[in-house]
Amino acid sequence: MPNKYQVIIRDILEGIENHRFKRGQKLPSIRHLSQVYKCSKDTVQKAMMELKYQHRIYAVEKSGYYILEDQDFQDNTVKLNPDDFQHLPYEDFRSCLNESLVGRENYLFNYYHQQEGLEELIDSLQRLLMDYDVYTKKDQLVITAGSQQALYILTQMDFGTKGTDILLEEPTYHRMKELVEHQGLAYQTIERTLDGIDLEQLEAIFKTGRIKCFYTIPRLHNPLGTTYHLETKKAIIRLAQRYKVYIIEDDYLADFDSSKSLPLHYLDTDNKVIYIKSFTPTLFPALRIGGVALPHKLVPAFLGYKSLIDYDTNLIMQKALSLYIDNGMFARNSRHLFQQVLDKRLHMEAALASCQLAYPYQLATDLLTIQLPHQTVTPQLKHSQLGIEIISCPSFSYLQLPYSQDFKEKLQQILTYLH
Ligand SMILES: Cc1ncc(COP(=O)(O)O)c(C=O)c1O
Repeated sequence: MPNKYQVIIRDILEGIENHRFKRGQKLPSIRHLSQVYKCSKDTVQKAMMELKYQHRIYAVEKSGYYILEDQDFQDNTVKLNPDDFQHLPYEDFRSCLNESLVGRENYLFNYYHQQEGLEELIDSLQRLLMDYDVYTKKDQLVITAGSQQALYILTQMDFGTKGTDILLEEPTYHRMKELVEHQGLAYQTIERTLDGIDLEQLEAIFKTGRIKCFYTIPRLHNPLGTTYHLETKKAIIRLAQRYKVYIIEDDYLADFDSSKSLPLHYLDTDNKVIYIKSFTPTLFPALRIGGVALPHKLVPAFLGYKSLIDYDTNLIMQKALSLYIDNGMFARNSRHLFQQVLDKRLHMEAALASCQLAYPYQLATDLLTIQLPHQTVTPQLKHSQLGIEIISCPSFSYLQLPYSQDFKEKLQQILTYLH
């Protein structure tokens, strides 16, 4: 016959399984459970510790125990109310944050600074990156205050090669362009369209010997939303190796890539790729934690620059993120967020199918990008108040329409301007 301790555990697990307990639901107090089960508070407490250890419940200081995950969430296909979504990662992260602070005074006050980042987070990151086909040794990983800090350091760094210029795709992530321009750094651009880049031109640029690094967003490019084909990625790596150019691979939206395409980092056999992972898209921008996988050779220089601008990366946030990754919350919430993006995408695809759009376009996360000849972007379209953005590049202009409930109506309006 099971003892009281086992009965409590069994009952709570059954409660989760038969949907009686929902995610985030507070469990009855220890005192109440000890009365119900006619046992000591210690026995209930022991059962709670076991459930906590199994990651079925979590503790909130001075409040009690809560269900970590309910049965509905085990089901991958569950659709969430979009309005609910943003607070899920936030709530989960908050419980990790609580866990990071409870009873850690000793640890926090006696912490010996590690420029490369908290060892636990480096462990978690190393394992996590394998899910993206990024295989690195721990001593190649550095935690930064978001991808932005990694980008800043990389723009400052001497890579030990002859090249002096940074090569950017055009268009590219606007803050990277600003970073380079505001520092007055030498840079060149290569045009990227919805069709990709001209590899012959890339080779000609690399061949000059002036490029020290090429900053690229191979998948779900910001702002175009496109992903390079595997053959293009292989060619970029071949050229980088041949002409000794470092590649900065910004994999900002890796968690939203339904095709799970291979990163440049995976294809690199000559330690030419610097891989950057951001947690902002799947968590929240205020987290300010990112991870960089560097070739061994570049680690000391990167850490040297990092120590000049930052004493340390926020320890509590690092600790909480490590917990968040290790207890499966990151994977689960990323999946749900991805599902939500897919729903928006279906909505946008249906709208596109119902109209005749004669120009090339790309859908990515929650944004439609239409590639247009410059002359089609009339002042009326530009000032149409439809919430669009126009990006002007050498060969084309790009019109971007974000997802909204009235996406279809807005798209139809845009088409009237384009005809
Ligand atoms: C391509 C790209 N890289 C990096 C970042 C910044 O990421 P983080 O918040 O990790 O600094 C962004 C933010 O929008 C981005 O679009």
